[in-house]
Parts: sequence; C-alpha cells; structure tokens
Amino acid sequence: MHSSLMNMVFMAVLGAVLFVWGPLSKVADQVYASKAPETKGFFIEGVEQEGHGGGEPEVVEITPLPVLLASATEASGEKISKRCAACHTFDKGGPSRTGPNLWGIVGSPIAQRDGFSYSSALKEYGAGDKVWNYESLNSYIENPKGYIPGNSMNFAGLNKPEQRAALIKFMRSKADTPLPLPEAPAAETAPAEESAG
Ligand code: HEC
Repeated sequence: MHSSLMNMVFMAVLGAVLFVWGPLSKVADQVYASKAPETKGFFIEGVEQEGHGGGEPEVVEITPLPVLLASATEASGEKISKRCAACHTFDKGGPSRTGPNLWGIVGSPIAQRDGFSYSSALKEYGAGDKVWNYESLNSYIENPKGYIPGNSMNFAGLNKPEQRAALIKFMRSKADTPLPLPEAPAAETAPAEESAG
C-alpha cells in the first residue's frame, strides 16, 4: 500500500529531523544567548534601578565628564563652591578650615597639604603620591563617604553631573598652572577653538 510506505518515509524523515534538531537547537540557543547583550545602555554606578525583579531595567544615558567639563563655566562653578566654603578656601595662601586649602588641588598629590591633619583613610587612598585627577575628584565630590569610606569630609555630595563639572572647572582655574582639560571623545567635541595670540 502506498500510504504505509508514505508513513514510513514520513516517520523516518521526522525522526531524522528531531534527532538532528534537538541538539542543534541547544547549540543555537547557546550561540544566541552568548551574543545577546544582557542590558542595554549605560548605568550610573550607585543609582538605584527602579522596578527590581522584573521588567526592563531603566536606561540612563550619561554624558562623559570631558564633554561636561568642556561646556561648563567657571562662573557657575564658583557659585557652587559656596557649598564648600564653610570648610575650604580656594585662594592662594588661604587658610585651612575644617578642610584643607584647595588652591591648585586639581592635579596635585592627595592628602598632602602642609599642616593639615588628614584622616588615615584619605592618606591611604593617596598613598604613593597619587594625585587628584578629573575622574577621582568627580567621584569624591559626588559621594565623599561612598568613594573613600572612612574619610572625614562631612559633605553629602553633589548629585548633578553638570554641577560637579562646573565646580571642578572652577577648582582647576584656582591654580598657578591649571591642569589641561581632559580630551573629549572625538564625536562630541566642539570645533577646535582658535588659540588666540
Ligand atoms: C563639612 C566640611 C566640608 C565640606 C562642606 C566640604 N569639605 Fe572637602 N574636606 C573636608 C575635610 C575635613 C577634608 C579632609 C578629609 C580627610 O582627611 O579625610 C576634605 C578634603 C577635601 C579634598 C581633598 C583635599 C586633599 O588635600 O587631598 C577635596 C578635593 C575636597 N575636600 C573638596 C571639597 C569640595 C569641592 C567641596 C564642596 C562641594 C567640599 N570639599 C566640601 C571638609 C569639607
């Protein structure tokens, strides 16, 4: 009979397909699993993601610090520096208050201002003549206690990246020789300014 022959052929083909497809689909799963990104976009460290335990994590776009620094103004940073002024002076030869004088701090060694008695946490963080750079200052000002646990700066931190960038740009200007600004990623940079004179 035709139909029983057809059935046998059909079963044989089906069997072969299942036999091959089983293992193959597992391989395929693995290939795709390893390629698929787990999460899309950037996450800001320390920022709580909403909706724990399900759903798409919130995507937070971050502007790189060099880009923020390029557009920040020293004048707006000077206003923000009032929040530090209870404990710090920024002028050359200014006194220490609760915190050390910060003239020329950007690019200078950490915890090495003469005559100031630092916490051991900050001294350890700066061990080996480590210097403050744009990234480390940004992290410290954002969350002093979180970034350097045990240090004695009692300041809650500045949440807004734009405010920190402005403040750091102001701090940078308070120096004999301001540290060069970090280079912004090529795509984001404004057209190069003419260097006058
Ligand atoms: C309540 C007082 C207080 C406030 C407000 C404060 N600071 Fe401080 N700051 C300190 C103290 C104290 C230290 C020394 C910390 C230690 O030894 O652990 C310090 C250390 C620092 C250092 C490291 C100095 C070094 O020599 O390495 C920087 C940079 C700094 N502060 C920046 C700021 C900025 C910018 C602000 C404002 C956004 C600010 N601080 C606000 C008290 C303060």
